[in-house]
Amino acid sequence: MINITVNASKKYDVLMEHGALSQAGQHICNVSGDADRKICIITDTTVSELYGQKTQPLWQSLEGAGFEVYEYVFNGGETDKNMSTVVDILEYLAKEGFTRTDLLLALGGGVIGDIAGFTAATYLRGVEFIQVPTTLLAIVDSSVGGKTGVNLSSGKNLAGAFWQPSLVIFDPEVLATLDSALKLDGLAEIIKAGFIDAPKIFALIDNRRVSLDDHDFLTKLAAMAVEVKRKIVEEDERESGNRQLLNLGHTAAHAIEKLSSYSISHGHAVAMGMAIITAAAKSYGWCDDKCPDLMLDTLSAFGLPLKCTYSAAELTSAALHDKKRRGDHITLVIPKAAGSCSLKTIAVDQLEEVFDRGLEVLNK
Ligand code: NAD
Ligand code: GLY
Repeated sequence: MINITVNASKKYDVLMEHGALSQAGQHICNVSGDADRKICIITDTTVSELYGQKTQPLWQSLEGAGFEVYEYVFNGGETDKNMSTVVDILEYLAKEGFTRTDLLLALGGGVIGDIAGFTAATYLRGVEFIQVPTTLLAIVDSSVGGKTGVNLSSGKNLAGAFWQPSLVIFDPEVLATLDSALKLDGLAEIIKAGFIDAPKIFALIDNRRVSLDDHDFLTKLAAMAVEVKRKIVEEDERESGNRQLLNLGHTAAHAIEKLSSYSISHGHAVAMGMAIITAAAKSYGWCDDKCPDLMLDTLSAFGLPLKCTYSAAELTSAALHDKKRRGDHITLVIPKAAGSCSLKTIAVDQLEEVFDRGLEVLNK
């Protein structure tokens, strides 16, 4: 079993273990105490069918440990990641009589984790929740660190709360039902972590062409990325400083997601966003000579997209609502070398030129 302890405002473990879904009830009791209470699995239709049925290991394990199990299922996807879904879940919990000692359990990808976490942060002014990530992206990034929230029509993740889970439980068996596009979403975030603080990730990826079907290897990479996130979240949980490094590629990525009406997934948009900012860094001479090739070659080796069909003006206009903006300034994350990124604050009216420089290099 891999166990990474995150020592944030709340201390919790990230457990990665084959068969963990069938042990979930016991793991939750170990951290959260008595099981004589309600737990609500929050999930989407696809994941519910795969892992959220009464006869399946997760439910059986929760019931076996003594929990009274409920399930709230909705369509899911980025377009359901909004306030109206949160209100529907809050109403459901209230109708079913959930109290402050009861629990929520997010079973799914990042959309589910973000919505369930935000619901947990607001229901009765805050109840405990457990993250059970079922996408590679969710175990690599979104289930850890306590950022929760929803999109507004003006942009991505514009409403939310910092609310840490009590436990993260990952069963690598769930990777068996993920298609390769969803695995690539997670790989984009693994590459991001490599650039921020884990150059070892590139050595591993390089020495051994990653087979997307090698789930133990993907889990090992995920653990390395979680370790990067753990260190940063412990140092700067509320993102007043270095946590911003985790936003590498995200200013363009959130703009791309919004411009595509969320038809481009978060992970693929992050890949495009990292390509744009790396290419811009090359153009301005902000990074070392090897950095652009490493980023662009690694992304393209997996078939992650580098090119973006939106113009610098479109990206800029969509990025103006980004929550990374502070007044007339916005902070960008600049990759300098493998394992080394820095923060650069620019005036908002310089952003279009940065995007333009990046797109120019990529479109050559
Ligand atoms: P997602 O939750 O929409 O999942 C993607 C798709 O995979 C869904 O259709 C889902 O039904 C399906 N799915 C989930 N698990 C599956 C499985 N095991 N087998 C088959 N299908 C499965 O999206 P995602 O890519 O996991 O997460 C993206 C979201 O995460 C974005 O909204 C992004 O903003 C958010 N995010 C949040 C943070 C954070 O720190 N809170 C970090 C990164 C990303
Ligand atoms: N995914 C960015 C963060 O958690 O800070």
